[in-house]
Amino acid sequence: GKEQNALFIIFGATGDLAQRKLYPSLFNLYKKGFLCKRFAVIGTARRPWTDEHFQQVVRNSISGMEDTAAQTTEFSRHFYYQSHNVNDVEHYVTLKKLAEKLDEKYKINGNRLFYLAMSPRFFGTICKYLKSEEIVTDEGYNRVIIEKPFGHDLQSAVELNDEIAKYFSEESVYRIDHYLGKEMNQNILAVRFGNNIFRALWNNRYIDNIQITLSESLGVEDRAGYYETAGALRDMVQNHILQIVSLLTMNAPVTFTDVDIRREKISALKALQLYTPEEVKKYFVRGQYAHTEDLNGYREEDQVDPNSTTETFVAGKLHVNSMNFAGVPIYIRTGKRLAAKSTRVDVVFKNMPNNIFNANKKLLPNVLSFDIDANPGMSLTLNTKKVSQSGYKLENRALSYRHDISTQAITPEAYEKLILDAVKGDATNFVHWEEVYYSWRFIDSVRTAWDNEDVTPDELTNYNCNTMGPKISDELLAKDGNYWFFDP
Ligand code: BG6
Repeated sequence: GKEQNALFIIFGATGDLAQRKLYPSLFNLYKKGFLCKRFAVIGTARRPWTDEHFQQVVRNSISGMEDTAAQTTEFSRHFYYQSHNVNDVEHYVTLKKLAEKLDEKYKINGNRLFYLAMSPRFFGTICKYLKSEEIVTDEGYNRVIIEKPFGHDLQSAVELNDEIAKYFSEESVYRIDHYLGKEMNQNILAVRFGNNIFRALWNNRYIDNIQITLSESLGVEDRAGYYETAGALRDMVQNHILQIVSLLTMNAPVTFTDVDIRREKISALKALQLYTPEEVKKYFVRGQYAHTEDLNGYREEDQVDPNSTTETFVAGKLHVNSMNFAGVPIYIRTGKRLAAKSTRVDVVFKNMPNNIFNANKKLLPNVLSFDIDANPGMSLTLNTKKVSQSGYKLENRALSYRHDISTQAITPEAYEKLILDAVKGDATNFVHWEEVYYSWRFIDSVRTAWDNEDVTPDELTNYNCNTMGPKISDELLAKDGNYWFFDP
């Protein structure tokens, strides 16, 4: 059967992520029968909640999703709360007892998932005590799911990983990047490795450049405390964007398994050209949203330092120096308070070497696009004949496909997919340590150069809300004779 038996132990159970993503995802898995009778969830956090209160919070977080009220109640009965100070050994002793009790009650047979959804500074301590207090079991599996950010730079990531690795093997660590759970993002590999036409074209002989846009219309909202220490480069590029880069530039895996897929992704990320400070100046731009009409500028936002130089926008040009991709510019951009919420990939093929239809005019290139978020779909532009009585003119048209409403309705949410993968032991869409390593190594080369640049907050405040970012982002491409294809 498809029913999975598992005990989830969630650290950070009172938090925003747990309520917004984890409980609804678990509930969907419950509705679909992947979780049924043989599962339980222990929520832990500092607050002294009761089981009843916790269950009420869980019910609130899934309200409106249920088929029947009884279903909600039944589901929430699987949730237990344990007030927990992660530094206190005694608390792990209690946790172990509760885990054993629930394991027996729900006939779980020792399968455990430890979900770390709290500040990374506690990850090492938690892993240590899970091991020393024997909350890991011998009968089933023990998997640690780790939320981002995985470190703050290369060194802190290495330290964090060394700490975790003392207690859990790489195979049992599941590092979340929720972009990897998005259906249309997963489609990149299907299109690349399932279609011979693209196999032939997917290299520096035929691809001119690649463009990746992760734009958000919201501002920093209530996360300034975290965002001030991160900025767009760490928040979106180190993880989501570089992951997409790896999917677009990796070589074909020998088999479609987590081991082989991640091996090729690692190689792609390892091939990222590291930049000197001069190259960073040339290849990267950053910015901060300015006060626009009734919208706050970044430095006017709640809990943001009025002199902050944290970037809310970044655009860059990357190079993956592998045999297939050396020489192909990969343009990336992401930012807050931009014109639209979109996740978009444009693969721009090289132009026809000459235009037999009109020697004075360049043909438009073929562009293969993936819309990963809103209205998910793909399109490929072609030059086609324009209908006319006489003469022969071309026009650029798109072959496009969108998931229809019913497909969108059955599309599982990213977290739901990833949690089920972790339960089943499929690590394909989790980030291997070496991917994290090479990603940070690249990001550090940019960040270090920026940290040593003298820049005033006013210089950084260079784009209005509801635009696609500062002019320097367009100029970055214009220098190469290119432009951003995607203009929402
Ligand atoms: C998160 C970032 O990882 O991704 C947020 O920390 C960002 O700042 C979010 O808003 C975007 O995710 P999604 O799925 O809404 O595109």
